[in-house]
Amino acid sequence: MSDRYQDLAHNPIGKFVVKNLGLPNPPYLERYEGGPLVRGSVLTGSATDGPVAKAITAALKASKIEATGVRADGKRYKGLVFDASGITGAAGLVALQEFFTPVLRQLQSCGRVVVVGLAPESLEDEDAVIAQRALEGFTRSLAKEVGAGSSVNLVYVVKGAQKALQSTLGFLLSPKSAYVSGQVVRIGATGITSAPTAKDLTKPLAGKVALVTGASRGLGAADMRALARDGATVIGLDVPPLEADLKALAEELDGGYIVGDITAEDAPRTIAEYVRKNHGGVDVVVHNAGITRDKRLRNMKAENWQLVVDISVGAPQRITDELLDQGLINTGGTVIGIASIAGIAGNNGQTNYASAKAGVIGWIQSLAARVAKDGITANVVAPGFMETEMVKTIPLGIREAGRRMNSMSQGGHPIDVAEAIAWFADPGSGAVSGNVLGVNGQMLLGAS
Ligand SMILES: NC(=O)c1ccc[n+]([C@@H]2O[C@H](COP(=O)([O-])OP(=O)(O)OC[C@H]3O[C@@H](n4cnc5c(N)ncnc54)[C@H](O)[C@@H]3O)[C@@H](O)[C@H]2O)c1
Repeated sequence: MSDRYQDLAHNPIGKFVVKNLGLPNPPYLERYEGGPLVRGSVLTGSATDGPVAKAITAALKASKIEATGVRADGKRYKGLVFDASGITGAAGLVALQEFFTPVLRQLQSCGRVVVVGLAPESLEDEDAVIAQRALEGFTRSLAKEVGAGSSVNLVYVVKGAQKALQSTLGFLLSPKSAYVSGQVVRIGATGITSAPTAKDLTKPLAGKVALVTGASRGLGAADMRALARDGATVIGLDVPPLEADLKALAEELDGGYIVGDITAEDAPRTIAEYVRKNHGGVDVVVHNAGITRDKRLRNMKAENWQLVVDISVGAPQRITDELLDQGLINTGGTVIGIASIAGIAGNNGQTNYASAKAGVIGWIQSLAARVAKDGITANVVAPGFMETEMVKTIPLGIREAGRRMNSMSQGGHPIDVAEAIAWFADPGSGAVSGNVLGVNGQMLLGAS
């Protein structure tokens, strides 16, 4: 749905009112429309030539991103990438201030800041752990300062995985990550430390097969479109009442579809059979189907608890296990769970939904560790306030509060979640596993 307040804040009178009353001023966010990943120049910096510096330069080059290590006065940059991996103690953190303070005014609107460090849990030296863990506080704070639709994110690399940075830097520096800020991404966390470099940056999923549940509308339909755009053959699944929409979308995208309820006893076998017969296997599984049945716990009915939990996490687990047992998730494949900010921060009236979505996080992280030996990854996308049909039913006051309480002062679009899914699905993200990515504009409530 549209954001009328945002439009109002951009007309001449609205601008005046917003400025003088100190009201939220949601910028129009740039989103990816094809062509180069980054339209503009990226400035790179490094603290005492960290072990990741060379890999950053190589990753930017492979993604055809224009980058320089020399700051020019007066030049405007679309992105700033700082390699903090060489910081080995608290005193060295001043390198962040030395790099960023002079250049922040040169960051363009909807600019991108990425800090790269070493995953603290992979380090032994206590001083280095302090320094690297400090990067989280730094990036989350700077994310709240930058404004103008810009984002700040942190990438932790496990030693040895620095060569697998390309797809992640490409995503975080491009407009594909318009609504992703204040996030921490880990590369190499499950022991997979390498990933192929994309041959065709515009079709990284060429030759791949992607299954999306709950695909006929909302976020699922956006996922289908983004995965098809990136070259995948898509298979959508949805319940019988939405068959017409599902079929139309599948036909539009030259894909296939399965009609059914994921909680049905035979769903795992039906899906596995479809995948085996038609494609011989699947590369990307997106467990997007979800429902809400909100009530405070004192009024909660057992069936509404059970249904929400089973659709969110029970059925996805059964389906994934069936596909794995039958060897139908291809090597290099990925499983993506959809959680929610509610599963991280909790929400009034959503004990069932928040439990289910927190369960998704637990399940996917456990799965990521289990399937790493087969070269399969698993990650979670946790959307915040998204502009979908669903939010139309929220009372206006609560809706406005939810929409503005993030660093971007606005809701996200379905494509923002879809872009995150497409990044996880990219074979170049083969070392990105066990992550929970909030697509929430850096939600100000709860940890995000
Ligand atoms: N919209 C948001 O703001 C938001 C925020 C956080 C998380 N999410 C999550 O994102 C996902 C998609 O949400 P959405 O807003 O697009 O919702 P939506 O209601 O528009 O779409 C959900 C889809 O899942 C399908 N589905 C539901 N139960 C199913 C079942 N048993 N079997 C097969 N399909 C089933 C529905 O038919 C529908 O097509 C959900 O998991 C939701 O919890 C959404």
